[in-house]
Amino acid sequence: MTCGIAPATEVSDFDSINLYTLTNQNNMVVKITNYGATITSIIVPDRNGDMADVALGYDNVEGYINAANRPYFGSVVGRYGNRIARGKFTLDGTEYTLATNDGENHLHGGQMGFDKVVWEAERVDNGVKMTYRARDGEEGYPGNLTLSVTYTLTNENAIVMHYEATTDKPTVVNVTNHTYFNLAGEGEPTINDHILRIDASKFTPVDAGLIPTGELRDVAGTPFDFREPKLIGRDLQSNDSQLQHGLGYDHNWVLDREKAGLELAATLHEAKSGRVLDVLTTEPAIQFYGGNFLDGNLIGKSGKAYQHRSGLCLETQHSPDSPNRPEWPSTTLRPGEKYETTTVYRFGVK
Ligand code: GLA
Repeated sequence: MTCGIAPATEVSDFDSINLYTLTNQNNMVVKITNYGATITSIIVPDRNGDMADVALGYDNVEGYINAANRPYFGSVVGRYGNRIARGKFTLDGTEYTLATNDGENHLHGGQMGFDKVVWEAERVDNGVKMTYRARDGEEGYPGNLTLSVTYTLTNENAIVMHYEATTDKPTVVNVTNHTYFNLAGEGEPTINDHILRIDASKFTPVDAGLIPTGELRDVAGTPFDFREPKLIGRDLQSNDSQLQHGLGYDHNWVLDREKAGLELAATLHEAKSGRVLDVLTTEPAIQFYGGNFLDGNLIGKSGKAYQHRSGLCLETQHSPDSPNRPEWPSTTLRPGEKYETTTVYRFGVK
């Protein structure tokens, strides 16, 4: 296997990369590798019972290791998923400087984020538990962090992702899964014909570097209103500076939560297949990224080129740059505390 030498991953770790297959009584299949704790396939029925893989990705681990333009297909991203302005934040009076890998900003954990490392894996009932031990100072973050994600597949066609973490120094944590969905099947040309609902009345407008300005803006009367199910493509051509900054949808919605706990955050529907995806989460926000950086150059697992906007991500999380926004829900984790979040991808048809 060819691979670059990674500071966070010893080359010998690459020998322990495996693929884990989860199945349920409806013949749904989910494949997950411990390279990046990455979901590589999600095979689900349409309304006629015909199966398709609805997750974009590669058919071999080299694809993930060498990925050009780094799409983060299916991976866990962190230690901080999403962006931190100029890669800097201050915690308890100390300023930390992180790796910058998105212009002047930090994105998805830096050069060797959690998508680029080999996780330990152990089988659990109906699932697999993956653990990664990030070192103090890795990508600039303080604290030795032990993070696990447990994936289980239920007979209700739901993938349950349960994250837990502890640290030995105060740090920031915000992890999420970066699966790209196309409910017509991976390799189909566009997600602009999917219908999306996001349970959020506000979103975080961004600057040209996709860093939130600090405003929480009402979605009402903007292309960002997905409170009622809406075709993703409907408002994409609107003359809206936020859509220009994102090159389309690449924004963070603040969920209208009624209480703490697992709640429905978003529903995606593709009319021809009838497939539906519900996203439930304990997180306060969700990034909807419309696949704007896919440009037809990446060839996916079934040999088809992934065209512009042919997959979308629904990344449950705390909002970008929260470490620099003390007024927003905290992403700080301290020794003795436990970081614990759950997100569910539940599939159905209508
Ligand atoms: C995220 C970001 C996007 C882009 C993709 C990866 O979801 O918000 O801007 O970086 O990851 O291509």
